Amino acid sequence: MNIPIKKLTSGFELPVYGLGLWQMGGKTEIDRTNDEADIAAIDAAIKAGVRHIDTAESYGAGHAEELLAKALEHNDRSQLIIASKVSAWNQTYDGVLRSFEATLNRLGTDYLDLYLLHRYPEVGIDIKDTMRAMDKLVARGVVKNIGVCNMTPHRFDETQRHSRNKLVCNQVHYNVQYREAEAKRVLQHAQANDVMVVAWRPVQKGLLPNTPLMSELSTKYAKTPTQIAINWLTSQSNVVTIAKTTSLEHLQENLGALDFTMTTADIERIRDDYPDKRYVSDAVPLDYAADTPA
Ligand SMILES: NC(=O)c1ccc[n+]([C@@H]2O[C@H](COP(=O)([O-])OP(=O)(O)OC[C@H]3O[C@@H](n4cnc5c(N)ncnc54)[C@H](OP(=O)(O)O)[C@@H]3O)[C@@H](O)[C@H]2O)c1
Repeated sequence: MNIPIKKLTSGFELPVYGLGLWQMGGKTEIDRTNDEADIAAIDAAIKAGVRHIDTAESYGAGHAEELLAKALEHNDRSQLIIASKVSAWNQTYDGVLRSFEATLNRLGTDYLDLYLLHRYPEVGIDIKDTMRAMDKLVARGVVKNIGVCNMTPHRFDETQRHSRNKLVCNQVHYNVQYREAEAKRVLQHAQANDVMVVAWRPVQKGLLPNTPLMSELSTKYAKTPTQIAINWLTSQSNVVTIAKTTSLEHLQENLGALDFTMTTADIERIRDDYPDKRYVSDAVPLDYAADTPA
């Protein structure tokens, strides 16, 4: 399918749905047990029309990037938007450049579409040095766009001040249940500043509670509650999402979330009436590294 695209005023664009590779190739250590299935899942997603693929140097200690490289062998890399991330502890000037080279080598590509700070740099690393290195990669033409993850508007603005290039996105934990991005005004800040919010964990790992409201809307739109949850994200301005799945069935379900429109009233009902909302991420709270001693 042709996944709809969202375009910022700056011209930067992303498909509304992409594939995340967290937990492919291991968590924080390499795990090769599911390599074949993971490569097949990435390939299947690309064949189904997924173009934005999100990984990080830390996913499976780099192995997720190697799995993506394997899938790229059978696909046209130029049609894809590949995003990777430099870890908070590697964000010195030299550290960013070293991490980037290692990422490119593992991916077997000669450029990244999007390079992100996985978090604000660890204590002891100066954000000015981090952004000097990110700017250098853009100047060399090996990174097309830069962005950040998990930052409050305050940290985002500070990071932006130290970069010559526009930060095109802020990748944050955001879904019907987890609303830190609303509570700390990441969403509002992005909409006002021409920034894309890339909502990670859109289906809360398949563990979203099936509430009466979601059941009612599921019946009304003839879509599953998961599809309602994904559609709720992508129906908002400046928001796109990335989900991880190795299941063909889940992939088809998630893509089926992109072909219908909910009324504004229903979108706002989910915003206001979804029960038991959480205002801090249970995985990576905003500004986590900034608040955490090295
Ligand atoms: N920047 C950051 O700090 C950060 C943090 C976390 C995540 N991310 C990125 O965001 C991506 C997505 O987040 P996530 O992987 O944590 O969470 P997620 O996409 O919400 O959940 C993935 C899990 O949900 C399952 N799933 C997917 N679709 C489903 C469906 N339709 N029904 C039921 N279960 C379903 C998957 O299992 P199956 O494989 O069996 O389908 C997988 O176990 C990551 O892969 C990563 O690229 C970024």
